[in-house]
Amino acid sequence: MTIFELSGERVLDYLDLLAGLRLSIFREYPYLYDGQLEDERRYLSGYAVTGQVLLALDEEQVIGAITGMPLAMESEAFVTPFRAAGLAPEEFYYIGELLLLPPYRNLGWGSRLLDRLEQSVAQQGACRSYCLATVNRPEGHPQRPAGYVPIEQFCRRHGYTLIEGVTAQIPWRELDGKSTHKTLSLWRKSVDGAGEGRHSS
Ligand SMILES: CC(C)(COP(=O)(O)OP(=O)(O)OC[C@H]1O[C@@H](n2cnc3c(N)ncnc32)[C@H](O)[C@@H]1OP(=O)(O)O)[C@@H](O)C(=O)NCCC(=O)NCCS
Repeated sequence: MTIFELSGERVLDYLDLLAGLRLSIFREYPYLYDGQLEDERRYLSGYAVTGQVLLALDEEQVIGAITGMPLAMESEAFVTPFRAAGLAPEEFYYIGELLLLPPYRNLGWGSRLLDRLEQSVAQQGACRSYCLATVNRPEGHPQRPAGYVPIEQFCRRHGYTLIEGVTAQIPWRELDGKSTHKTLSLWRKSVDGAGEGRHSS
């Protein structure tokens, strides 16, 4: 498997592939997202203006991806909670989504994609911290699959810590057809401390 880096207009060539990954993977718990291709194209084309995308390829097939952009370029719904908490958005790089098709999970590829994007951001030297978001669901959520592994474990394993008391409210339509705001927890990791707390297994 290989990792392929995209930025600028080259992202546009992969919009439908990326949209396909998001639309299928985000149907899963905890997202339960009922997305539309047109919305996905619009959202993902933002990464062609600012930001970057890494694709994981098995032969010619795109089997995973990670996206990111400076937090200050993200939507207000993500930027405002940082400002409100006294954190300067300009200092953060936002990891947007990390996606792998189910047969390719638990093989280290998610970790490799995240490491590679973090290294790239660190080399650019423009941000002091990485950040990402996870969706909060109640423990007893009826859609939670048996044996579900919370993504928070993966975040901690990679050295991210929760930004206590700071959340983003993001709306999307779920598979039941209802559009509601979800509460997302926000996580941070210092670029300088990128070697801490990772891969302890
Ligand atoms: C979360 C995800 C990116 C991890 O990538 P991966 O290649 O499977 O992970 P790695 O092999 O590098 O690392 C394995 C770790 O991920 C965990 N993991 C695997 N699948 C997972 C899943 N669906 N949800 C949460 N964690 C998962 C494993 O339990 C393992 O945890 P550990 O290190 O504490 O033992 C991938 O499983 C995935 O695409 N999940 C669905 C989409 C998603 O939730 N993305 C994150 C937010 S955008």
